[in-house]
Amino acid sequence: MTTRLALLGGRPVRTRPFPAWPVFGRAEEARLLRTLRSGQWGRLHGDEVRRFEERFAAMHGCRHGIAVANGTVSLRLALIAAGLRAEDEVIVPPYTFFSTASAVVEANMVPAFADVDLDSFNLAPEAVEAAVTARTRAVIPVHFAGQPADMDAIMRIARKRKLLVIEDAAHAHGARYRDRPAGSLGHLASFSFQSSKNLTCGEGGIITTNDTRLAERCRSLHNCGRVPGGVWYEHHVISGNYRLGEFQGAVLNAQLDRLDAQTNTRDRNGRDLASRLAALPGLHPQKRPAACTRHSYHLFMLRLDGPAFGAPRAAVIEALRAEGIPCSAGYGFSLPQQPMFRAKAFGPYLQEAGARLDYSRANVPNSDLICREQGIWLEQSLLLGRRSDIKDIVRAFEKIHGQRAALSEWFRQRPARRRETTV
Ligand SMILES: Cc1ncc(COP(=O)(O)O)c(C=O)c1O
Repeated sequence: MTTRLALLGGRPVRTRPFPAWPVFGRAEEARLLRTLRSGQWGRLHGDEVRRFEERFAAMHGCRHGIAVANGTVSLRLALIAAGLRAEDEVIVPPYTFFSTASAVVEANMVPAFADVDLDSFNLAPEAVEAAVTARTRAVIPVHFAGQPADMDAIMRIARKRKLLVIEDAAHAHGARYRDRPAGSLGHLASFSFQSSKNLTCGEGGIITTNDTRLAERCRSLHNCGRVPGGVWYEHHVISGNYRLGEFQGAVLNAQLDRLDAQTNTRDRNGRDLASRLAALPGLHPQKRPAACTRHSYHLFMLRLDGPAFGAPRAAVIEALRAEGIPCSAGYGFSLPQQPMFRAKAFGPYLQEAGARLDYSRANVPNSDLICREQGIWLEQSLLLGRRSDIKDIVRAFEKIHGQRAALSEWFRQRPARRRETTV
């Protein structure tokens, strides 16, 4: 095999595509057609969403599941259902998708950022502890990339400080922590079924909980403030229609039958990839604690220490893509640096708290380092194939490391790089 980098005219390690996403077939078709022909397209009359809620909740160790329009609304409704008040503080990580924090603002509450751990990419418990103030009422740990956060420590802090814990499990369908499913570890949890997610129907979300009182409130909130036994045009709390439709329910029921096997495949391949890449200098795959008994690998994430590897991240990403390995740098900056937070563009929310907030002072160096210099993401479908796919990814990294001097030289000669904006 030629060792010349594909970027410099050599043969790429791989020309075959990786498995496509989403995976679907006859089961999805049959359920969609049945739903179409039934004429029962809405949540209130059909059976697909109701069955999906029961099955998904049971698979995630919960008595209740309330399916909603997406995984942002689910976070917002969970915060409101828990009885948090205007301008209460909610601790969130700075290294996560926008929604984890924007849902807090859209519930008229104040996001407070606590840094992530550099090795696990999840909320650092000591940073959570340090971020708690007299106004703090809740914390939203994200199970980033599909690896459960340090829930023992977070629940300990929550008990001590009387905080509500909402898991953001948007990446963590089927993940397990000490053999307990993600989604059953806090007081409430939120999942997303947006198109990139490990379980998808295009757009959708669900709230899971074991707390019957919270479940009833979520159910009312997702259905225009209606209550069980109430008449149709009777609304008890301010809310709206956040229900999921039956077509999405039909797709989700079919997809759910595939989830367990897919999660096992990703977990096996991800573990294999992590152990092989860790052998190369400067590569730090997401560190997996023993408590993570199943990783759902919505992303395979690693840090690349440029000086130790011998080439900077932007160059390595270009080289990997040229070798046939799709990848990205992920988030370009930490959430407090989002234009929305910098400008405090909160619309009608946080009218009073907004004046005293200054997100430019958020101190989140680990998140900043991952965003600006070190993070590399491979998407979940790369892990859905065979061991030979994993070997190709490893071979590409090895080849690039072997050619790091040539790559660095090429990179130095190139005109100024475009900013990485991929997510
Ligand atoms: C960590 C995290 N939380 C929340 C969300 C929001 O989910 P949705 O896009 O379904 O609103 C996402 C999705 O992209 C996410 O990655």
